[in-house]
Amino acid sequence: MLADTPQTGVLPPHPNSGPRRAPVGRGFPETTTRMERTFVMFKPDCLERGLLGRILSRFEEKGLRLVAMKMLRVTPALARQHYAEHVEKPFYPGLEEFITASPVVATIFAGPEVIRVVREMLGATSGLKAAAGTIRGDYSASRQMNLVHASDSPESAAREIGIYFKPDEIQSWDPSLACWLQAPGEV
Ligand code: CMP
Repeated sequence: MLADTPQTGVLPPHPNSGPRRAPVGRGFPETTTRMERTFVMFKPDCLERGLLGRILSRFEEKGLRLVAMKMLRVTPALARQHYAEHVEKPFYPGLEEFITASPVVATIFAGPEVIRVVREMLGATSGLKAAAGTIRGDYSASRQMNLVHASDSPESAAREIGIYFKPDEIQSWDPSLACWLQAPGEV
């Protein structure tokens, strides 16, 4: 035991201990040019299988910022609007039946390069081809029932966000932990 430690069995506090304060000016404002938004939809299979919380947690744990969220039922008309580029494809009737079968949870996440980051976290479209460690690689064994949809480009993100959300349904906020997720030069 150190000579000047009181004989209580309790070590004195470390000089750097105590509540931490966020470094001043190290926030992660949504106004920086590197910030992006992406549309992420948790599909009926995700809700039916009780995987919403688990998969949402992966995005939260990654440090992505949730800025909008709603539960809804996709109608056939909404499905045709969302999946306009697939309407003529042979798999579309099955896709529409699947996406309208149960509720979905529509969200928007924000972050630097978030469109690419989320797509990589999801993995390949088919759960049979998605790499282990990705969301689809870990939880899906299907091409159609691949749990989560995410925008594939800034153009599709803007289009899909506009289909599902009004501007006043999107939050602008700066979580207090943001200063521990990225350094100032990264955002
Ligand atoms: P998503 O990323 O939402 O984009 C289009 C969706 O169509 C896709 O995920 C799958 O759910 C579905 N899909 C894509 N390709 C096929 C296919 N070949 N057969 C059946 N469903 C598909």
